[in-house]
Amino acid sequence: MLTNDQLAQWDRENFFHPSTHLAQHARGETPTRVITGGSGVYIEDRDGKKMLDGFAGLYCVNVGYGRPEISEAIAAQAKELAYYHSYVGHGTEASITLSKMVLDRAPSNMSKVYFGLGGSDANETNVKLVWYYNNVLGRPEKKKIISRWRGYHGSGLVTGSLTGLELFHKKFDLPLSQVIHTDAPYYFRRPDLAQSEADFTAQCASELEALIEREGADTIAAFIGEPVLGTGGIVPPPAGYWAAIQAVLKKHDILLIADEVVTGFGRLGSMMGSDHYGIEADIITIAKGLTSAYAPLSGSIISDKVWKVLEQGTDELGPIGHGWTYSAHPIGAAAGVANLDLIDRLGLVGNAKEMGAYFNKALADALGSHAHVGDVRGEGLLAAVEFVEDKEKRTFFDPSRKIGPAMAAALLEQGVIARAMPQGDILGFAPPLCLTREEADIIVGATVKAVEKVFGAA
Ligand SMILES: Cc1ncc(COP(=O)(O)O)c(C=O)c1O
Repeated sequence: MLTNDQLAQWDRENFFHPSTHLAQHARGETPTRVITGGSGVYIEDRDGKKMLDGFAGLYCVNVGYGRPEISEAIAAQAKELAYYHSYVGHGTEASITLSKMVLDRAPSNMSKVYFGLGGSDANETNVKLVWYYNNVLGRPEKKKIISRWRGYHGSGLVTGSLTGLELFHKKFDLPLSQVIHTDAPYYFRRPDLAQSEADFTAQCASELEALIEREGADTIAAFIGEPVLGTGGIVPPPAGYWAAIQAVLKKHDILLIADEVVTGFGRLGSMMGSDHYGIEADIITIAKGLTSAYAPLSGSIISDKVWKVLEQGTDELGPIGHGWTYSAHPIGAAAGVANLDLIDRLGLVGNAKEMGAYFNKALADALGSHAHVGDVRGEGLLAAVEFVEDKEKRTFFDPSRKIGPAMAAALLEQGVIARAMPQGDILGFAPPLCLTREEADIIVGATVKAVEKVFGAA
């Protein structure tokens, strides 16, 4: 067996890790972490250290680790037929069954699902389909996509442009010119502290409308948003936000893409975030929770309205010129079928609702009054604690103090994983949906201790 030292050396010498400080890692200044196993909400590393994963990987291992129902389905599919493509009408029992299961769980205006591999490629598909849609309708100028600052939609060329976080643009020549951004629906960070939530919502809608009018509605194809802002800070929308935004989009004939890569299949305590907030999308992006990350698979769920135009396009132009070799990969599809079955059988959507309410309240009770805790927020099993320098004036720490990463490190020392969100001093939580009360208490207790360690006991 390889020693830890040898693995760390190979890692430094050969492995390009995503979202990593490349130079520090290559110099050996950041640790190599080799994860070897997992069960329920816990993962274990090579040294036998057990950690409670309060972020479910990258908010994706929704059913928890080590579920034999899914690994056995994957093994059976690999044995029977590891691969066949899905071009020109081909499919497998798994991919066809999964398409039915997805549509059964999607809002009633949805018609078909296209399967990809990850959230980024699914959003790439969505932008292409929206452009195709407007070309078929004879509106070649109607192409721009509006996204929100702090939105996260992937890190490809178009999807990295949709993502509204500086780090994902800087030095990559992004965003591309077809993508424009509007304000984040982030009430806690509103510029005017005296503003009411209702007024802030109205302002988000009127900013959006002003942007549309400045650019010209006939140049704007779609708006994309996550039901709850995720990587941008885990921020549930202010009251009335989605109704106000949809009214503006309808008025200007702009399609709505709901990016449910994080919220799809139970995370908010509802099957889909669209149902949770009354969002009637034209396209829905799904990924992570579709297979609980047991195998890579994503999807673009297409509404009746868009589907009709896609059909019209192929009647005029021939087969649609879009697809990946691995679209609807049978192993991913088999994982998806077993995963969605398991979510139902274990009642994980209901558990996310119940445990989400418990966890969010426990976090708020334990930390809400701390002098440097500016906001404790969440929805279902998504939660965040945001730190401030001065609570009353709502001033933020200088980013060079790295309060968020220090908190995550202090939690890890206690064997609990939380995520320091990339923009702001925000500690994010998104545990597996099978979380129990005892496990929620462990996360809250460790967070209290981390806050004491970083700021000193109150
Ligand atoms: C809302 C959302 N959309 C898209 C993506 C991109 O998915 P992937 O990393 O699988 O490409 C993510 C990833 O975190 C996400 O949170």
